[in-house]
Amino acid sequence: MAETIRAFVAGHPIGHSRSPLIHGHWLAELGIDGSYEALDIAPAEFPSFVTGLPASGWAGGNVTIPHKEAAFAAVSRHDVAAEAIGAVNTLWHEGDRLVGGNTDAYGFAANLDERTPGWRDGTRALVIGAGGASRAIIFALLEAGFTHVDLANRTIARAEALAGRFGPAIHPAALDTLDDMAANADLIVNTTALGMAGQPPLEIDFGSARDDAIAADIVYAPLLTPFLAGARARGLQTADGLGMLLHQAVPGFERWFCVRPTVTAALRRTIVEDL
Ligand code: ATR
Repeated sequence: MAETIRAFVAGHPIGHSRSPLIHGHWLAELGIDGSYEALDIAPAEFPSFVTGLPASGWAGGNVTIPHKEAAFAAVSRHDVAAEAIGAVNTLWHEGDRLVGGNTDAYGFAANLDERTPGWRDGTRALVIGAGGASRAIIFALLEAGFTHVDLANRTIARAEALAGRFGPAIHPAALDTLDDMAANADLIVNTTALGMAGQPPLEIDFGSARDDAIAADIVYAPLLTPFLAGARARGLQTADGLGMLLHQAVPGFERWFCVRPTVTAALRRTIVEDL
């Protein structure tokens, strides 16, 4: 009898993670003999957890806050996205080696492909926020052919550091010029936690945005953030953060369980009910 394939998500804390629900939905839908388990791993234990993985029974797993940079440091092989972003959210075995990948940029792009398919025609973007999530979005935009990214952040030094990392297409800016930069953007992306339940909204006026501009948020709770509501009121196309969350899970599932799952309306409903 074949052995049950086991995958994990490791974080600290881990109770908030929606990943078990997403992968559990696919395992049931596809009738796969597998499991996907949430592991609370404290930062001090994380390096030895990764070192022990090749000899463990895990097929691989996801890594979430606060371990994404530590996971990058703990493995010697990375995929192209993880290398560019400097963070790992997915681990799998290739032969006897552990590989760290990053599927956040893929998830962002795949969600826009689904929701706002014209986005790849754009060349100018406004990205708000310069944290870990922002690095994945910038990588996705450069891959898609964007040539000018205004990168607005409260702490401008962090935006400057990302300009150093990603090159001359990135233009650091302060948050007080958002409305002007929005006027020139094909795509406007919020990568900060602003607008999340319990957080203040991101202050941006879409009045000057172009009619065909697209707005995307990485926040998914609530689904309709004040940022996306403002964009919709202006008549812009929008893509919410839940779609990115669902799509980023696809490549990992395929690596561990050897079947490519689909992001369906039924999966979306399952997660929305849990938000
Ligand atoms: P993540 O990995 O999710 O991107 P992060 O690295 O903590 O998280 O980055 C959070 C982003 O949200 C940053 O751009 C942060 O701005 P700073 O670099 O100035 O800290 C931004 N952010 C968080 N709270 C904010 C607030 N109240 N106002 C403006 N920006 C905020």
